[in-house]
Amino acid sequence: MRRKIVAGNWKMNTTYNEAMDLVAELKSSLTEEVVGETGVIITPPSVFLSDVVNELVDNPFIAVAAQNCHEQDNGAYTGEISAPMLASLDLDAVIIGHSERRQYFGETNASCKVKIGQALNNELAAIYCIGETLEERKSGNYMDVILSQCAEGLEGFSEEDMDNIILAYEPVWAIGTGETASPEQAQEVHAGIRAWLVERFGGEAAQDISVLYGGSCKPGNAAELFAQPDIDGGLIGGASLSAADFTAIVKARTEA
Ligand code: 13P
Repeated sequence: MRRKIVAGNWKMNTTYNEAMDLVAELKSSLTEEVVGETGVIITPPSVFLSDVVNELVDNPFIAVAAQNCHEQDNGAYTGEISAPMLASLDLDAVIIGHSERRQYFGETNASCKVKIGQALNNELAAIYCIGETLEERKSGNYMDVILSQCAEGLEGFSEEDMDNIILAYEPVWAIGTGETASPEQAQEVHAGIRAWLVERFGGEAAQDISVLYGGSCKPGNAAELFAQPDIDGGLIGGASLSAADFTAIVKARTEA
């Protein structure tokens, strides 16, 4: 069954104390009633992951993910973090191919494909991000861009692999800008992704794959986005740094 999911991407934010305070607040606000059937994931900076996992060890409602992993298991890659390292902390998932990594760190669909493989080989779910830039949106060929990201990043993965891959559509022009895709714009793209998934993996498998929306998703617009038939949840940036806002978004997903 397709899961409702709300994931918070903290990006390069919070000091250690701020991170641990935020986790403590989320632990008390994300109650069974708020969470319901929604899968909740938080993605703190990597240096805090170990302590965050320990803090949540008895919490059944909040899963923990990393923001990136390297293509290799280990080796002379100063400053990098591998999927086996993340797995050894008992993490649940890793974000792959966020647009900021594509934009600032040269990640490509091909490198994302390798990283998704690393995640799956290490029993981590992969949250694979796709989405067009403003120029691509304006040019009108955004769907081609998004479907190429899908085709190239997911090349070679099987229907079974898709049990552990979550897609996140994040239009680059809506990230951190306060400008959200309208529910109709987002639904149009999500329906296009879903149609591609049906063609690539078959109808049954495609119906089980969660596709999240990300880009200025806030408590005020979450419900109308989540009401769209092909939007299964959200990947939340700025609003995930406030326990109250993130909790309100989770609640909107649970109730939609
Ligand atoms: P904002 O919610 O801050 O726009 O960020 C979205 C995002 O990039 C989540 O990965």
